[in-house]
Amino acid sequence: MEHVDLVILGAGAAGLFCAGSGLAPGRRVLVLDHAQTPAEKIRISGGGRCNFTNLATGPDRFLSANSRFAASALARYAPGAFVGLVDRAGIAWHEKTQGQLFCDGKATQITDMLLDRMAGAELRLGTRIDGVARQGDRFVVATPGGDISAARVVVATGGKSIPKIGATGLAYDLARQFGLRVTATRPALVPLTFAEQDLALCRPLAGLSVEARITHGAGRFRDALLFTHRGLSGPVILQISSFWQAGEALQIDLSPDRDVAAELKAMRASRGKGLVATALAQILPERLAQAIATEAGLAQARLADQPNPRLEALGARVNRWQVRPVGTEGYRTAEVTHGGVDTRDLDAKTMQARQVPGLSFIGECVDVTGWLGGYNFQWAWASADAAGRA
Ligand code: FDA
Repeated sequence: MEHVDLVILGAGAAGLFCAGSGLAPGRRVLVLDHAQTPAEKIRISGGGRCNFTNLATGPDRFLSANSRFAASALARYAPGAFVGLVDRAGIAWHEKTQGQLFCDGKATQITDMLLDRMAGAELRLGTRIDGVARQGDRFVVATPGGDISAARVVVATGGKSIPKIGATGLAYDLARQFGLRVTATRPALVPLTFAEQDLALCRPLAGLSVEARITHGAGRFRDALLFTHRGLSGPVILQISSFWQAGEALQIDLSPDRDVAAELKAMRASRGKGLVATALAQILPERLAQAIATEAGLAQARLADQPNPRLEALGARVNRWQVRPVGTEGYRTAEVTHGGVDTRDLDAKTMQARQVPGLSFIGECVDVTGWLGGYNFQWAWASADAAGRA
């Protein structure tokens, strides 16, 4: 049987980073992954430019049943540390908005940097993991190429999002096998889908983007909203999807900062002969203004003929649009998985299972889900560093 000190399951963002942090003279570190290429999600992240961290990182940017759990690892491995690595690797980057740092060039530069950082560890791709068992004070990882005995195992196989590029529920299965609890999982940072009656508005507007504000539960976001053939997407929708639960309605402000009813009344007083749709187009993109006027049966109506209640209803339609999504696009397109390995069963400093010394869970498989904007990678780096150094 092959013997190593540390075996890391999963060669994604967290697994590769953990391998680099876990290296020490004389320590054998092995990373296993069933994919043929490491870190496929880094490659496709941030539209191919990898939003590798966020300067505003703090525990308040994460959803978890235990909102303080991430604080320790995030404090000990802060965004500045990762930016230092990126700078030393000579990778050019820029801040896009709201603290989000992106590569100027290809996202794969980040993967190359992580692979350089873990030189000295062994990366074994195309390797199926058939099982993990405890044997005395060691673990045995079964693979088609033979069994591997390890003093420590770090599970970094991610969540369920995007099965097409290799996501599986292995981390949750292993957690349960070793007696850890797993909180309910669902797709997050994901487009929302609508029933036919709402699609009548969305579908013809597919491709149109407007700035919107949505408050739902503890989530409060203002960013671009994108109409799609299946419903709504764009950053503001992805953000709120992490807070939304099946069956709940959302209230969307399609014109933040503007009181649409008041503006329509003012326009009625100054240029009442104009059409309602034309007036709305002073506030909203023309296609959206036309669609809302048509939906209200006012496509050809003049502003002067509209009583206050009708303008107030139109204003509410824009500032307080009530919709009830029927679902999400699911793990097929979700950027992350909400929920996962229960943090009550993990040590926040080492990411080790409290009842199973030597077994750790890091990255997306843990019940720590970041907002959109580089937070999920920062969690991958920070949790991986905590486990690697432990
Ligand atoms: P990750 O999923 O990266 O890696 C898991 C690895 O385990 C994979 O290599 C997989 O093949 C392997 N694996 C899974 N099951 C296995 C099994 N049974 N046997 C063997 N190996 C197995 N975040 C962010 O901060 N900024 C961004 O710009 C983006 N952009 C983005 C775009 C898109 C399209 C997606 C889908 C996601 C993002 N994210 C993101 C989220 C980010 O990609 C995610 O949070 C991290 O990749 C999670 O890192 P992990 O290492 O935990 O899992």
